[in-house]
Amino acid sequence: MVPFFNNNKEQLQLDKNNIPKHIAIIMDGNGRWAAKRALPKKAGHRAGAKTLENISQAAINLGIEHLTVYAFSTENWKRSEEEVKGIMDLLREYLKTYIDRAKKDNVRVHIIGDITRLDKDIQQQIVELEGLTKDKTGMNLHIALNYGGRDELLRAIRKVSQDVVKGKYKAEEIGEKELEQYLDTKEIPDPELLIRTSGEERISNFLLWQIAYSELSFSEKLWPDFTEYDLQQAIYQYQNRERRFGGRK
Ligand code: FPP
Repeated sequence: MVPFFNNNKEQLQLDKNNIPKHIAIIMDGNGRWAAKRALPKKAGHRAGAKTLENISQAAINLGIEHLTVYAFSTENWKRSEEEVKGIMDLLREYLKTYIDRAKKDNVRVHIIGDITRLDKDIQQQIVELEGLTKDKTGMNLHIALNYGGRDELLRAIRKVSQDVVKGKYKAEEIGEKELEQYLDTKEIPDPELLIRTSGEERISNFLLWQIAYSELSFSEKLWPDFTEYDLQQAIYQYQNRERRFGGRK
């Protein structure tokens, strides 16, 4: 049991044997956090990047094996050029400073999404960070960059059809397990829990295939305000739900 205090200062206990192996997070609310303080959007994203560091650390402390975070979606290119540049510059900083942290914390970093649309220097940083951390045995941090669930499925379907044309499979041989080998999340277990912050209750094209049976947890907190306690509370909620996977009790 892991004791923690919720926001009402009540002490709750997390069952150490029922911590989700994989938690996915839609980190929403950076813009509103900045607007409330009359700060530029970039300040909100910077605060969001700091929260990501804190929550990764909290996830490591809880023994979570996979943490997947939505940092930049295929739709985020529609934002102003200034905001996109701000996020990309932050990403450069984050990827650079994360090398030391990942080594210290034994974290393996993996990017999901179509990185070919990102600037070349960022692509190089990604290859470097993934390479330097590939043998780490602690938590796996999957960062979604230029990621969209539909885009991921389309890319997978294109690749699998090419393999059908080449004769590697017959079309009727393709089942869930086969298709999963073509997804960005190949070999990663599906998330048991998906958290979205900022009071919005949407999936926004995140991990569409993988969240088929995930428990959903929506927090009113804006992402920069999200804390270790909020994470523990979401896990507590998860542990007190009944998961049926379409069956009956
Ligand atoms: C959503 O908030 C957040 C994003 C679109 C970007 C997520 C980025 C970070 C958490 C920080 C950067 C991360 C890295 C790895 C550098 P929003 O801007 O949509 O918030 P709003 O809905 O209040 O405007």
